Amino acid sequence: MNILGIETSCDETAAAVVADGRLVKSAVVASQAKLHEKYGGVVPEIASRAHVENIYPVIKEAMEQAGVGNDDIDAIAVANQPGLTVALVVGVTAAKTLSFAWNKPLIAINHLHAHLQSAIMSADGLELPAAALIVSGGHTSLYDYRSPLEPRLLGSTIDDAAGEAFDKVATILKLPYPGGPSIEKTAADGDPDAIKFPRSMLGRDSLDFSFSGVKTAVLYHCRGQNMKGQNKVDSMGRKEIADIAASFQAAVVEVLVKKTQRAAKKIGAKTVLLGGGVAANSALRATLQEMCAEMTPPKKLLVAPKQYCTDNAVMVASLAYHRFKAGLYADLTLEPRASSE
Ligand code: KG4
Ligand code: ZN
Repeated sequence: MNILGIETSCDETAAAVVADGRLVKSAVVASQAKLHEKYGGVVPEIASRAHVENIYPVIKEAMEQAGVGNDDIDAIAVANQPGLTVALVVGVTAAKTLSFAWNKPLIAINHLHAHLQSAIMSADGLELPAAALIVSGGHTSLYDYRSPLEPRLLGSTIDDAAGEAFDKVATILKLPYPGGPSIEKTAADGDPDAIKFPRSMLGRDSLDFSFSGVKTAVLYHCRGQNMKGQNKVDSMGRKEIADIAASFQAAVVEVLVKKTQRAAKKIGAKTVLLGGGVAANSALRATLQEMCAEMTPPKKLLVAPKQYCTDNAVMVASLAYHRFKAGLYADLTLEPRASSE
């Protein structure tokens, strides 16, 4: 069965056709990164307008690439939460319109649960329970994952998301947008032990995250403790900037990995899942892999393929297959929601 997935929760307009939850027939993403670049972050009004422009051509291309017509589509799925309401509304309206016009079931998808789906969609013999970490530009969350339908939230960030911290630190270091990939690239030439940035663990048992402290520490490092100094980045050499990027990345990765280990122990996880935009980070992937191998007994790590780490509609259509099988349909009253239900 073919599901058309639609994703517009932030700054990517995406559509995909996926058969039986795993066979990707098409995957189209129109990124708005260029539009938001000069602001150093996503501007909701600009994102919304760009989604309106892109949504029709992106869906049309996804259908054409898949070689399907509306009669071949069994359901329409859309991410309706969490995200920017003015962005989500574009995808939700498109999905409702197609559902009505083609007389096909409508399926509502939680964008974060869909990120988890990217990690497992091509896995065979998934052993549960799994401790699942989602790290994106807007969210940093740990889940107790026992079924695709009801991952249970164990903890999340109390301030900045991990990706947001990468983006803000990249701005401080005057590196190109989006910050995550720029920091990773710059960090490759730096020493992760050069500067000891803080690791906020929030207490012995906490599964929540806080990244505003490490971001502020980088800011102080570059502008002086009283913040009165000029940003010294302009006068820093490549190596000094690389050391800051590598040390910042190491601090964030260490917290993410240690908390995931805590979660895995707490729920007796057999598997660890990693998804979301920051999951594209090679240092995070490698450190989490080491942690999983060192645990007793070792855990299997499933990471989303790089092309499905950042926002995409494949993960939406894939997760929708499970909701479809469970008869969990939405109706035409479906609305976008800024936060998760
Ligand atoms: O999942 P995503 O596409 O959007 C949200 O749902 O937020 O994640 C985007 C975030 C951005 O903050 C971006 O800087 C970060 O993922 N990111 C990375 C890397 N690639 C993308 N962060 C660290 N290292 C990367 N290689
Ligand atoms: Zn996302």
